[in-house]
Amino acid sequence: MEEGSVRRDPGKCMFENIREDIRMHEGKWSSQGLWVMLPYRFGCWRYSVGPALLRKPLSVAYRVMKTLSQILTGIDLPCEVKVGRRFRIEHFGGIIISGDAILGDDVVVRNGVTIGLKRRDDPGSPVIGNRVDIGAGAKLLGKIRIGDDVIIGANAVVITDVPSNSIAVGIPARIIPRKKCVSNQEGCPSAVVLNPHSLNAADLELAVLSN
Ligand SMILES: CC(C)(COP(=O)(O)OP(=O)(O)OC[C@H]1O[C@@H](n2cnc3c(N)ncnc32)[C@H](O)[C@@H]1OP(=O)(O)O)[C@@H](O)C(=O)NCCC(=O)NCCS
Repeated sequence: MEEGSVRRDPGKCMFENIREDIRMHEGKWSSQGLWVMLPYRFGCWRYSVGPALLRKPLSVAYRVMKTLSQILTGIDLPCEVKVGRRFRIEHFGGIIISGDAILGDDVVVRNGVTIGLKRRDDPGSPVIGNRVDIGAGAKLLGKIRIGDDVIIGANAVVITDVPSNSIAVGIPARIIPRKKCVSNQEGCPSAVVLNPHSLNAADLELAVLSN
């Protein structure tokens, strides 16, 4: 993940973050991903409320909202997870993200994705870079680092670091360099370099999927 990448304060900017979440889910209120992002944003925001006496009822409200969204969507996204900008949840069901995981900007997760501990007695969860597209059913386990512009294939089990601009597929995941990159980072093996900042979400998705 880039050092110093601009992040919104998850507490202070609750409404701005929610507006962005709505845009990322194409304004579809029926999108289960959005049902999860609302309690998530609320949960983050409540930490910014100073007086403990005021925070207590907000925490109770958060617990109720989170449990309901979990039951309705099968997605567990605790508000302790650090999520970057423009996070998108495609589809729903069986998505579990551990509280100590860190996700960069423009990360996409899909149904069946687990991001969490490798073993119960082995603390530490993945740190995921920017523009990482995680395929359906993929499991990312343990204290690993996933670079920027990475695609994780469907059903991959990733237990080692994945360098930027690569694809991880299979069980355990093997790493393949990407043919095209969406960043202009050093080490990008591609002749075709796209600047993600000049692309909108749909273009970026197209670029990622066409790799
Ligand atoms: C990884 C993925 C993006 C393909 O990337 P790609 O750049 O087109 O890669 P290729 O198809 O050329 O495959 C490269 C190698 O990875 C293998 N591979 C691709 N996807 C794989 C997967 N999910 N599991 C295991 N191996 C896979 C291919 O067999 C090929 O192996 P080889 O080099 O031994 O021949 C795609 O297969 C994938 O898994 N996408 C996830 C999409 C998704 O989750 N869709 C669900 C929507 S609900």
